[in-house]
Amino acid sequence: MRNTLLILAAAALLAAPLAAQGGSDTKGKFYFKKTCKACHAPGTPAKEITPLSKTQAQWKAYFAAGKHKKGAEKLDSVLKPEQVKDVQTFLVNHASDSPQPETCGG
Ligand code: HEC
Repeated sequence: MRNTLLILAAAALLAAPLAAQGGSDTKGKFYFKKTCKACHAPGTPAKEITPLSKTQAQWKAYFAAGKHKKGAEKLDSVLKPEQVKDVQTFLVNHASDSPQPETCGG
């Protein structure tokens, strides 16, 4: 019994950092509006981008590659890596084929 509790405690400790890596939808929305939308609003040269611009699989592939501006720079150069993770979570959660598609103000 004592061993079982120890194993459960160890499993909880291991699971905690994994959960943190998941990224925050709410923070991601904030960073997306604040930073990404500064360049990607409607009518801008960089073209409008919303969560609906891609499917969930396409956003995952885009962030896995981590490249921005047609490969000219890394997404990490736009935001800190943990903020990029949050933006990824927001975009994937609200992609065109997600259960909660979101235009993020157009
Ligand atoms: C300083 C301005 C700027 C910021 C900030 C910015 N982008 Fe971009 N983005 C661009 C430009 C310029 C392009 C290239 C547009 C083109 O020529 O088609 C681009 C292209 C893209 C593309 C199209 C594919 C590609 O990589 O060429 C996506 C998707 C994208 N950006 C997402 C984002 C996201 C997500 C963020 C926030 C984490 C972001 N951008 C922040 C300027 C910006």
